[in-house]
Amino acid sequence: MDLCVIEGDGIGHEVIPAAVRVLKIVAPDVITRKAEAGWDCFEATGSPLPDDTLRLALECSAVLFGAAASPSYPVEGYYVPVVRLRRELKTYATLRPTRYLPVPTARAGVDLLVVREATEDLYIGHEHTEDEGRTGVSEKVITREATENVTRKAYEMAVKTNRKKVTIVHKASVLLQSDGLFRRVALEIGANYPQIKTEELLVDTAAYWMVKDPTRFDLILTPNLYGDILSDMAAAWGGGLGLAPSLSLGSSAALAEPVHGCAPDIAGQGISNPTAAIMSIALLLRHHWERFEAADRVESAIRSTLEAGYHTIDINPEGAVSTMRFTDEVCARLG
Ligand code: NAI
Ligand code: MG
Repeated sequence: MDLCVIEGDGIGHEVIPAAVRVLKIVAPDVITRKAEAGWDCFEATGSPLPDDTLRLALECSAVLFGAAASPSYPVEGYYVPVVRLRRELKTYATLRPTRYLPVPTARAGVDLLVVREATEDLYIGHEHTEDEGRTGVSEKVITREATENVTRKAYEMAVKTNRKKVTIVHKASVLLQSDGLFRRVALEIGANYPQIKTEELLVDTAAYWMVKDPTRFDLILTPNLYGDILSDMAAAWGGGLGLAPSLSLGSSAALAEPVHGCAPDIAGQGISNPTAAIMSIALLLRHHWERFEAADRVESAIRSTLEAGYHTIDINPEGAVSTMRFTDEVCARLG
Protein backbone atom coordinates (compact mmCIF):
# COMPACT_ATOMS: atom_id res chain seq x y z
CA MET A 1 0.00 0.00 0.00
CA ASP A 2 1.48 3.38 -0.93
CA LEU A 3 0.41 6.96 -0.35
CA CYS A 4 1.50 9.94 -2.45
CA VAL A 5 2.07 12.82 -0.01
CA ILE A 6 1.86 16.40 -1.30
CA GLU A 7 2.28 19.08 1.36
CA GLY A 8 1.67 22.00 -1.01
CA ASP A 9 2.07 25.48 0.46
CA GLY A 10 1.84 27.31 3.78
CA ILE A 11 0.47 25.25 6.67
CA GLY A 12 0.45 22.20 4.40
CA HIS A 13 4.09 21.86 5.55
CA GLU A 14 2.87 21.64 9.18
CA VAL A 15 -0.38 19.68 9.12
CA ILE A 16 0.59 17.04 6.54
CA PRO A 17 3.71 15.84 8.40
CA ALA A 18 1.53 15.61 11.54
CA ALA A 19 -1.00 13.44 9.68
CA VAL A 20 1.76 11.24 8.24
CA ARG A 21 3.19 10.75 11.75
CA VAL A 22 -0.19 9.47 12.94
CA LEU A 23 -0.59 7.23 9.88
CA LYS A 24 2.85 5.63 10.46
CA ILE A 25 1.75 4.58 13.94
CA VAL A 26 -1.64 3.07 13.03
CA ALA A 27 -0.66 1.67 9.60
CA PRO A 28 3.14 1.17 9.64
CA ASP A 29 3.07 -0.88 6.42
CA VAL A 30 1.90 2.07 4.29
CA ILE A 31 4.76 3.43 2.17
CA THR A 32 4.73 7.22 1.78
CA ARG A 33 6.11 8.84 -1.37
CA LYS A 34 6.56 12.63 -1.39
CA ALA A 35 5.79 14.90 -4.35
CA GLU A 36 5.52 18.62 -5.04
CA ALA A 37 2.62 20.80 -6.16
CA GLY A 38 1.26 24.28 -5.52
CA TRP A 39 2.34 27.88 -5.85
CA ASP A 40 5.92 27.51 -4.56
CA CYS A 41 6.30 24.54 -6.90
CA PHE A 42 4.99 26.66 -9.79
CA GLU A 43 7.54 29.37 -9.01
CA ALA A 44 10.34 26.81 -8.83
CA THR A 45 9.41 24.58 -11.79
CA GLY A 46 6.94 26.53 -13.93
CA SER A 47 4.14 24.01 -13.21
CA PRO A 48 1.67 23.89 -10.30
CA LEU A 49 1.34 20.11 -10.81
CA PRO A 50 4.45 18.70 -12.51
CA ASP A 51 4.16 15.53 -14.62
CA ASP A 52 6.24 13.55 -12.09
CA THR A 53 3.79 14.45 -9.34
CA LEU A 54 0.79 13.53 -11.46
CA ARG A 55 2.38 10.21 -12.45
CA LEU A 56 3.12 9.33 -8.83
CA ALA A 57 -0.39 10.37 -7.74
CA LEU A 58 -1.92 8.10 -10.40
CA GLU A 59 0.40 5.21 -9.47
CA CYS A 60 -0.21 5.25 -5.72
CA SER A 61 -3.17 3.69 -3.94
CA ALA A 62 -4.14 7.14 -2.59
CA VAL A 63 -3.03 10.77 -2.29
CA LEU A 64 -2.76 13.01 0.78
CA PHE A 65 -2.84 16.69 -0.21
CA GLY A 66 -2.25 19.72 2.05
CA ALA A 67 -3.28 22.96 0.35
CA ALA A 68 -2.06 25.21 -2.44
CA ALA A 69 -1.97 28.99 -2.52
CA SER A 70 -3.88 30.26 -5.53
CA PRO A 71 -4.03 33.90 -6.58
CA SER A 72 -7.46 35.44 -7.28
CA TYR A 73 -6.33 36.79 -10.66
CA PRO A 74 -5.09 34.99 -13.79
CA VAL A 75 -1.41 34.02 -13.88
CA GLU A 76 -0.08 32.59 -17.16
CA GLY A 77 0.53 28.84 -16.72
CA TYR A 78 -1.05 28.58 -13.27
CA TYR A 79 -4.18 26.61 -12.36
CA VAL A 80 -5.49 25.24 -9.06
CA PRO A 81 -3.59 21.95 -8.74
CA VAL A 82 -6.07 20.09 -6.54
CA VAL A 83 -8.96 20.79 -8.93
CA ARG A 84 -6.93 19.20 -11.75
CA LEU A 85 -5.84 16.36 -9.47
CA ARG A 86 -9.46 15.48 -8.64
CA ARG A 87 -10.24 15.38 -12.37
CA GLU A 88 -7.16 13.33 -13.30
CA LEU A 89 -7.76 10.84 -10.48
CA LYS A 90 -11.48 10.76 -11.41
CA THR A 91 -12.39 11.12 -7.77
CA TYR A 92 -15.89 12.30 -8.55
CA ALA A 93 -17.33 12.30 -5.02
CA THR A 94 -15.92 14.39 -2.20
CA LEU A 95 -17.08 13.43 1.29
CA ARG A 96 -17.04 16.27 3.79
CA PRO A 97 -18.43 15.14 7.14
CA THR A 98 -19.18 17.49 10.03
CA ARG A 99 -19.59 15.75 13.33
CA TYR A 100 -19.48 17.24 16.80
CA LEU A 101 -16.04 17.26 18.42
CA PRO A 102 -15.55 18.27 22.06
CA VAL A 103 -14.45 21.88 21.56
CA PRO A 104 -16.30 25.03 22.70
CA THR A 105 -16.59 26.26 19.09
CA ALA A 106 -18.65 23.24 17.94
CA ARG A 107 -22.42 22.80 18.09
CA ALA A 108 -23.66 19.69 19.86
CA GLY A 109 -25.89 17.37 17.87
CA VAL A 110 -24.49 18.23 14.42
CA ASP A 111 -23.72 15.14 12.34
CA LEU A 112 -23.98 15.70 8.63
CA LEU A 113 -22.20 14.65 5.48
CA VAL A 114 -21.83 16.82 2.39
CA VAL A 115 -21.21 14.74 -0.74
CA ARG A 116 -19.94 17.09 -3.40
CA GLU A 117 -19.42 16.29 -7.08
CA ALA A 118 -15.73 17.01 -7.62
CA THR A 119 -14.81 16.85 -11.30
CA GLU A 120 -17.03 19.33 -13.16
CA ASP A 121 -19.52 22.20 -12.75
CA LEU A 122 -17.98 25.70 -12.88
CA TYR A 123 -14.60 24.25 -11.85
CA ILE A 124 -13.70 22.74 -15.24
CA GLY A 125 -11.72 25.86 -16.09
CA HIS A 126 -13.43 26.70 -19.39
CA GLU A 127 -13.17 30.46 -19.13
CA HIS A 128 -12.62 33.30 -21.52
CA THR A 129 -13.14 36.99 -21.90
CA GLU A 130 -15.08 38.83 -24.58
CA ASP A 131 -15.55 42.41 -25.56
CA GLU A 132 -11.90 43.34 -24.91
CA GLY A 133 -12.03 42.09 -21.34
CA ARG A 134 -15.27 43.81 -20.44
CA THR A 135 -17.13 40.49 -20.26
CA GLY A 136 -15.95 37.38 -18.37
CA VAL A 137 -17.41 33.96 -19.21
CA SER A 138 -17.07 30.77 -17.12
CA GLU A 139 -18.81 27.63 -18.39
CA LYS A 140 -20.81 25.46 -16.04
CA VAL A 141 -20.88 21.84 -17.19
CA ILE A 142 -22.93 19.05 -15.60
CA THR A 143 -22.95 15.59 -17.18
CA ARG A 144 -25.26 12.63 -16.68
CA GLU A 145 -22.26 10.34 -16.12
CA ALA A 146 -20.65 12.34 -13.30
CA THR A 147 -24.05 12.95 -11.68
CA GLU A 148 -24.88 9.24 -11.78
CA ASN A 149 -21.49 8.40 -10.25
CA VAL A 150 -21.69 10.90 -7.41
CA THR A 151 -25.32 10.07 -6.68
CA ARG A 152 -24.60 6.34 -6.43
CA LYS A 153 -21.66 7.05 -4.13
CA ALA A 154 -23.81 9.34 -1.96
CA TYR A 155 -26.58 6.76 -1.52
CA GLU A 156 -24.06 3.95 -0.94
CA MET A 157 -22.48 6.11 1.79
CA ALA A 158 -25.92 6.80 3.26
CA VAL A 159 -26.62 3.04 3.47
CA LYS A 160 -23.13 2.20 4.77
CA THR A 161 -23.10 4.87 7.47
CA ASN A 162 -26.71 4.35 8.49
CA ARG A 163 -28.02 7.72 7.38
CA LYS A 164 -31.75 8.15 6.82
CA LYS A 165 -32.15 11.13 4.50
CA VAL A 166 -30.50 12.59 1.39
CA THR A 167 -31.12 16.25 0.54
CA ILE A 168 -30.39 17.05 -3.12
CA VAL A 169 -29.28 20.69 -3.30
CA HIS A 170 -29.38 22.62 -6.60
CA LYS A 171 -30.64 25.77 -8.30
CA ALA A 172 -32.64 24.06 -11.02
CA SER A 173 -35.27 26.79 -10.84
CA VAL A 174 -32.88 29.11 -12.70
CA LEU A 175 -30.19 26.84 -14.19
CA LEU A 176 -32.59 24.60 -16.06
CA GLN A 177 -30.07 22.78 -18.26
CA SER A 178 -27.16 22.19 -15.85
CA ASP A 179 -28.68 21.97 -12.36
CA GLY A 180 -31.90 20.74 -13.97
CA LEU A 181 -30.00 17.71 -15.30
CA PHE A 182 -28.28 17.17 -11.94
CA ARG A 183 -31.65 17.22 -10.19
CA ARG A 184 -33.36 14.85 -12.63
CA VAL A 185 -30.54 12.29 -12.61
CA ALA A 186 -30.07 12.45 -8.83
CA LEU A 187 -33.80 11.89 -8.23
CA GLU A 188 -33.84 9.04 -10.76
CA ILE A 189 -30.92 7.20 -9.11
CA GLY A 190 -32.17 8.03 -5.61
CA ALA A 191 -35.45 6.24 -6.39
CA ASN A 192 -33.49 2.96 -6.36
CA TYR A 193 -32.89 3.39 -2.62
CA PRO A 194 -36.39 3.34 -1.09
CA GLN A 195 -34.97 2.81 2.41
CA ILE A 196 -33.47 6.35 2.26
CA LYS A 197 -35.76 9.37 2.33
CA THR A 198 -34.97 11.80 -0.50
CA GLU A 199 -35.78 15.51 -0.46
CA GLU A 200 -34.59 18.49 -2.49
CA LEU A 201 -33.79 22.11 -1.65
CA LEU A 202 -32.73 25.13 -3.65
CA VAL A 203 -29.18 26.10 -2.67
CA ASP A 204 -30.11 29.48 -1.19
CA THR A 205 -32.73 27.84 1.03
CA ALA A 206 -30.18 25.18 1.97
CA ALA A 207 -27.74 27.94 3.02
CA TYR A 208 -30.47 29.48 5.17
CA TRP A 209 -31.12 26.16 6.93
CA MET A 210 -27.41 25.48 7.30
CA VAL A 211 -27.15 28.64 9.39
CA LYS A 212 -30.49 28.30 11.19
CA ASP A 213 -30.55 24.60 12.03
CA PRO A 214 -27.77 22.31 10.72
CA THR A 215 -29.29 19.32 12.57
CA ARG A 216 -32.00 19.38 9.88
CA PHE A 217 -29.50 17.77 7.50
CA ASP A 218 -28.27 14.20 7.34
CA LEU A 219 -26.58 13.85 3.92
CA ILE A 220 -26.41 16.66 1.35
CA LEU A 221 -25.79 15.74 -2.31
CA THR A 222 -24.82 18.68 -4.49
CA PRO A 223 -22.73 19.88 -7.46
CA ASN A 224 -19.16 21.09 -7.05
CA LEU A 225 -19.45 24.82 -6.29
CA TYR A 226 -22.42 24.61 -3.89
CA GLY A 227 -20.69 21.73 -2.12
CA ASP A 228 -17.52 23.78 -1.70
CA ILE A 229 -19.47 26.61 -0.06
CA LEU A 230 -21.98 24.61 2.00
CA SER A 231 -19.27 22.34 3.43
CA ASP A 232 -17.27 25.34 4.67
CA MET A 233 -20.49 26.62 6.30
CA ALA A 234 -21.00 23.23 7.89
CA ALA A 235 -17.39 23.27 9.12
CA ALA A 236 -18.24 26.29 11.27
CA TRP A 237 -20.70 24.08 13.21
CA GLY A 238 -18.05 21.39 13.58
CA GLY A 239 -15.78 23.79 15.44
CA GLY A 240 -13.99 25.51 12.56
CA LEU A 241 -11.95 24.91 9.43
CA GLY A 242 -9.04 23.54 11.46
CA LEU A 243 -11.18 20.49 12.29
CA ALA A 244 -12.84 19.76 8.92
CA PRO A 245 -11.58 16.73 6.95
CA SER A 246 -12.42 15.50 3.47
CA LEU A 247 -11.96 12.50 1.22
CA SER A 248 -12.55 12.40 -2.54
CA LEU A 249 -13.40 8.97 -3.93
CA GLY A 250 -13.69 7.55 -7.42
CA SER A 251 -13.95 3.98 -8.63
CA SER A 252 -10.34 3.22 -7.68
CA ALA A 253 -8.46 6.33 -6.48
CA ALA A 254 -8.78 8.38 -3.30
CA LEU A 255 -7.61 11.85 -2.31
CA ALA A 256 -7.55 12.85 1.35
CA GLU A 257 -7.25 16.55 2.13
CA PRO A 258 -8.25 18.99 4.85
CA VAL A 259 -11.05 21.35 3.78
CA HIS A 260 -9.00 24.41 4.72
CA GLY A 261 -6.47 26.27 2.58
CA CYS A 262 -2.81 27.13 3.18
CA ALA A 263 -3.64 29.83 5.80
CA PRO A 264 -0.95 32.38 4.88
CA ASP A 265 -1.89 34.47 7.93
CA ILE A 266 -0.49 31.85 10.34
CA ALA A 267 1.84 29.77 8.13
CA GLY A 268 5.37 29.07 9.31
CA GLN A 269 4.66 29.63 13.00
CA GLY A 270 3.93 26.03 13.94
CA ILE A 271 0.54 26.96 15.45
CA SER A 272 -1.87 25.50 12.87
CA ASN A 273 -4.43 22.87 13.81
CA PRO A 274 -3.50 19.43 12.39
CA THR A 275 -6.89 17.89 13.28
CA ALA A 276 -8.44 18.34 9.81
CA ALA A 277 -5.47 16.63 8.13
CA ILE A 278 -5.35 13.83 10.73
CA MET A 279 -9.11 13.23 10.47
CA SER A 280 -8.72 13.08 6.67
CA ILE A 281 -6.36 10.13 7.26
CA ALA A 282 -9.09 8.52 9.37
CA LEU A 283 -11.54 8.94 6.44
CA LEU A 284 -8.99 7.38 4.08
CA LEU A 285 -8.44 4.42 6.40
CA ARG A 286 -12.18 3.87 6.85
CA HIS A 287 -13.69 4.48 3.43
CA HIS A 288 -10.89 3.63 0.99
CA TRP A 289 -8.61 1.13 2.68
CA GLU A 290 -11.38 -0.28 4.91
CA ARG A 291 -9.11 -0.41 7.94
CA PHE A 292 -11.86 0.28 10.42
CA GLU A 293 -9.89 -0.40 13.57
CA ALA A 294 -7.08 1.99 12.58
CA ALA A 295 -9.66 4.66 11.67
CA ASP A 296 -11.38 4.21 15.05
CA ARG A 297 -8.02 4.59 16.83
CA VAL A 298 -7.26 7.87 15.07
CA GLU A 299 -10.72 9.33 15.69
CA SER A 300 -10.79 8.39 19.35
CA ALA A 301 -7.24 9.75 19.90
CA ILE A 302 -8.34 13.10 18.45
CA ARG A 303 -11.49 13.08 20.57
CA SER A 304 -9.67 12.31 23.82
CA THR A 305 -6.90 14.85 23.10
CA LEU A 306 -9.55 17.56 22.69
CA GLU A 307 -11.46 16.28 25.72
CA ALA A 308 -8.28 16.61 27.77
CA GLY A 309 -8.30 20.30 26.83
CA TYR A 310 -5.41 20.34 24.35
CA HIS A 311 -6.19 22.70 21.50
CA THR A 312 -4.57 25.02 18.97
CA ILE A 313 -4.97 28.78 18.58
CA ASP A 314 -7.96 28.61 16.17
CA ILE A 315 -10.10 26.95 18.86
CA ASN A 316 -9.07 29.31 21.65
CA PRO A 317 -5.91 31.45 21.89
CA GLU A 318 -5.94 30.97 25.66
CA GLY A 319 -4.02 27.86 26.62
CA ALA A 320 -3.26 26.99 22.97
CA VAL A 321 -0.45 24.54 22.20
CA SER A 322 1.68 24.22 19.07
CA THR A 323 0.98 21.92 16.10
CA MET A 324 3.82 19.70 17.28
CA ARG A 325 2.64 19.48 20.90
CA PHE A 326 -0.94 18.76 19.86
CA THR A 327 0.28 15.98 17.55
CA ASP A 328 2.46 14.56 20.38
CA GLU A 329 -0.67 14.32 22.54
CA VAL A 330 -2.66 12.61 19.76
CA CYS A 331 0.16 10.10 19.14
CA ALA A 332 0.39 9.36 22.87
CA ARG A 333 -3.32 8.44 22.86
CA LEU A 334 -3.25 6.13 19.83
CA GLY A 335 -2.84 3.16 22.15
P1 NAI B 1 -7.82 29.22 4.60
O1 NAI B 1 -8.59 27.99 4.88
O2 NAI B 1 -6.41 29.07 4.20
O3 NAI B 1 -7.88 30.16 5.91
C1 NAI B 1 -9.08 30.74 6.42
C2 NAI B 1 -8.88 31.11 7.90
O4 NAI B 1 -8.89 29.91 8.69
C3 NAI B 1 -7.54 31.78 8.19
O5 NAI B 1 -7.71 32.76 9.20
C4 NAI B 1 -6.68 30.64 8.69
O6 NAI B 1 -5.65 31.05 9.57
C5 NAI B 1 -7.68 29.74 9.39
N1 NAI B 1 -7.27 28.33 9.29
C6 NAI B 1 -7.45 27.52 8.22
N2 NAI B 1 -6.95 26.29 8.48
C7 NAI B 1 -6.45 26.34 9.74
C8 NAI B 1 -5.79 25.39 10.58
N3 NAI B 1 -5.55 24.13 10.16
N4 NAI B 1 -5.40 25.79 11.81
C9 NAI B 1 -5.65 27.03 12.24
N5 NAI B 1 -6.26 27.98 11.51
C10 NAI B 1 -6.66 27.63 10.27
O7 NAI B 1 -8.64 30.02 3.48
P2 NAI B 1 -8.27 31.40 2.73
O8 NAI B 1 -7.61 32.34 3.67
O9 NAI B 1 -9.52 31.80 2.08
O10 NAI B 1 -7.25 30.99 1.58
C11 NAI B 1 -5.83 31.06 1.71
C12 NAI B 1 -5.20 30.42 0.50
O11 NAI B 1 -5.48 29.03 0.50
C13 NAI B 1 -5.69 30.97 -0.84
O12 NAI B 1 -4.57 31.11 -1.69
C14 NAI B 1 -6.62 29.90 -1.36
O13 NAI B 1 -6.64 29.84 -2.75
C15 NAI B 1 -5.98 28.65 -0.78
N6 NAI B 1 -6.93 27.52 -0.60
C16 NAI B 1 -6.50 26.31 -1.03
C17 NAI B 1 -7.30 25.21 -0.90
C18 NAI B 1 -6.77 23.90 -1.39
O14 NAI B 1 -5.67 23.83 -1.91
N7 NAI B 1 -7.51 22.82 -1.25
C19 NAI B 1 -8.63 25.28 -0.26
C20 NAI B 1 -8.97 26.61 0.20
C21 NAI B 1 -8.14 27.69 0.03
MG1 MG C 1 -13.28 25.33 -0.18
